[in-house]
Amino acid sequence: MASLLNRNKQAVGLDIGSRVLKAAELRPTRKGEYELVSLGIEELQPDCIVDGVIISKIPVSDAIGKIFTHQNIKNGRITTSISGHSVIVKKISLPVQSDEDLAESIRWEAEQYIPFDIADVNMDYQVLGENVGTGNLDILLVAVKKDKITDYTSVIKMAGKTPVLMDVDAFALQNAYEANYAPTSQNTVALLDIGASTMTINIVSGTDFLFTRDVGVGGHQYTEFIQKEFNLGYSQAQALKHGEAVENIDPKEATHVIESVTEIICLEIQKTYDFFKSTTTVDHIDRMIVSGGAAHTPGLIETLERKFEIPTEKFNSFKKITFDPKRFSSSMIADRAPDLAIAIGLALRSVEG
Ligand SMILES: Nc1ncnc2c1ncn2[C@@H]1O[C@H](COP(=O)(O)OP(=O)(O)OP(=O)(O)O)[C@@H](O)[C@H]1O
Ligand SMILES: [Mg+2]
Repeated sequence: MASLLNRNKQAVGLDIGSRVLKAAELRPTRKGEYELVSLGIEELQPDCIVDGVIISKIPVSDAIGKIFTHQNIKNGRITTSISGHSVIVKKISLPVQSDEDLAESIRWEAEQYIPFDIADVNMDYQVLGENVGTGNLDILLVAVKKDKITDYTSVIKMAGKTPVLMDVDAFALQNAYEANYAPTSQNTVALLDIGASTMTINIVSGTDFLFTRDVGVGGHQYTEFIQKEFNLGYSQAQALKHGEAVENIDPKEATHVIESVTEIICLEIQKTYDFFKSTTTVDHIDRMIVSGGAAHTPGLIETLERKFEIPTEKFNSFKKITFDPKRFSSSMIADRAPDLAIAIGLALRSVEG
């Protein structure tokens, strides 16, 4: 959708998460499916990326370099994506008009919606089609602050790689969803990617984009709350959250802390759904699919399903994507399938026909 940099041939999808870098490379198969060619995951030290801003570029570019060397990835072309408050995605509606007039109208509209100086953003739009109800054109408007793009492309360049396409997390997520779940009905599905510090919500109807919002909550909050409650260091709290006993503390003892953070996440989801429903004619969400590392949080999927009374499941990035079990461990793939949604969505961009 949003190609803020030039689109080119085959590339590696690189999801620069605030805590975990994930790289994936795919190739089309004869059957018209996709096969995994390479996969790499590299943790970042805390505080290298804070609030979507790359604070320390060198460790991030070193980590990118490491993934490519360790996994022996030869392709140096990279597709990546960004999220957060420097990214504005908005569906607007305009009367049918000539392409020239449209470009002018969109620019004018953009100035109303974009809370930054228009000179500081890169803008892109896509005409989604004529709305049967209103007769107007539905247009998807995307604007990203230029300094954010520069930040993310510079760490890639520092690692000696070439950024060829800049996408938005929400669209990469939707791309991975469409490829794996091949939606045929117009059911409304909420895709929730819950990472370490950001939750990206993308609501779709079939393959139509409806609404997206990024919220500053995620797995990091669980760790922080556990650290405070049990007076633990970061990695100990992280281990306890992941279900390991730490300093004689049984992971079960952390359940109430985990539940209290899940409660905060639920409130944010509720607020987003309320806002979404107040701005569209859709009044029901049929299904929720949760990706990102925090999808593994004990009880999270079950709590979401219970509270919202909506069928909820973990995202499977490898539902339709094949891999050679001699090269990639099946259990590792199954375990990481929710975490890799955005990287897979990005990798798909460069191989889709
Ligand atoms: N088994 C697990 N149980 C609980 N939490 C987990 C588990 N595995 C990973 N996580 C959490 O998932 C988070 C990392 O997820 P992810 O890789 O999606 O984040 P990210 O992409 O780096 O962050 P963001 O998208 O917010 O910038 C961390 O907070 C980590 O503790
Ligand atoms: Mg992420």
